[in-house]
Amino acid sequence: MTETQRITKAVIPAAGLGTRFLPATKAMPKEMLPVVDKPAIQYVVAEAAKAGLSDVLMITGRSKRALEDHFDRVPSLEKVLADKGDDEKLRLIQEATELGEIHYVRQGDPRGLGHAVLRAKRHVGDDPFAVLLGDDLIDERDELLSEMIRVQQETGGSVIALMEVDPSQVGSYGCADVTPVDGQDYVKVNRLVEKPKPEEAPSNLAVIGRYVLHPSVFEVLERTEPGRGDEVQLTDALQELASSEEIGGGVHAVVFRGRRYDTGDKLSYIQAVISLASERHDIGDRLVPWLKEFVADLDR
Ligand code: UTP
Repeated sequence: MTETQRITKAVIPAAGLGTRFLPATKAMPKEMLPVVDKPAIQYVVAEAAKAGLSDVLMITGRSKRALEDHFDRVPSLEKVLADKGDDEKLRLIQEATELGEIHYVRQGDPRGLGHAVLRAKRHVGDDPFAVLLGDDLIDERDELLSEMIRVQQETGGSVIALMEVDPSQVGSYGCADVTPVDGQDYVKVNRLVEKPKPEEAPSNLAVIGRYVLHPSVFEVLERTEPGRGDEVQLTDALQELASSEEIGGGVHAVVFRGRRYDTGDKLSYIQAVISLASERHDIGDRLVPWLKEFVADLDR
């Protein structure tokens, strides 16, 4: 085992333009879209807290107010609910303020995910850290981040999360060429390609929005030129780390087989809301029979 540094910091980029969700995201970050009754980003901050990452740095964009306000206390609303004796709702609004210490830094111009992560350099310093994309949800019943932290501590390098997707879908993701590691439940990443054409894809293993990174990623990002879409791509920096172990100890990956919900895209957002609502004890019992009837009616 290599020398390890405890991981305590999570970086959550939420500064993208969210153009796939316009006009809903004209004045509000897509990370604030409600998934049943909580904004998507609250699930992500809760996931970080559950994995022991209580120091969160959020990278915000042009409409950061909604994000900051959501994780801040609202004494006037708390007082109204307390006066009414509505302890349940009081608990619900306080939940978001008790997840950890949340810091904010502005990205300014959204010049890509790599550029957003680079904004965390000063806050993170010299220790490995996690990155959780604010529009990518991992079901709380499935373990991913804690597994990735364990693999980072074992390998000393960087760790990404991969998921098998239909080969026709690889062009929407970063894609990885991997080899198994003897006796281990993780794989070694040899090469990464951002949004490849299906015929150029090295596999059907897609990069999803969880990373545990060696701090050397910052020096690589500083010299990473804008790539696909004229944006500084995190995948390009990770490709450099994967190709030369001397810089940051290489890149490994955990292949996730659990439930993931992408809330950055209209169709998958709606699927996420329906899946999670169906399983909620407060509305699932009424939603599921209604859904069955609704679908049966569509077929008639
Ligand atoms: P996406 O590519 O999904 O976000 O970035 P986007 O650019 O906002 O989406 P569309 O394509 O225009 O609809 C993945 C994550 O990285 C963040 C986003 O907020 C999202 O959480 N991001 C992306 C930044 O923080 N800054 C950027 O410059 C780009």
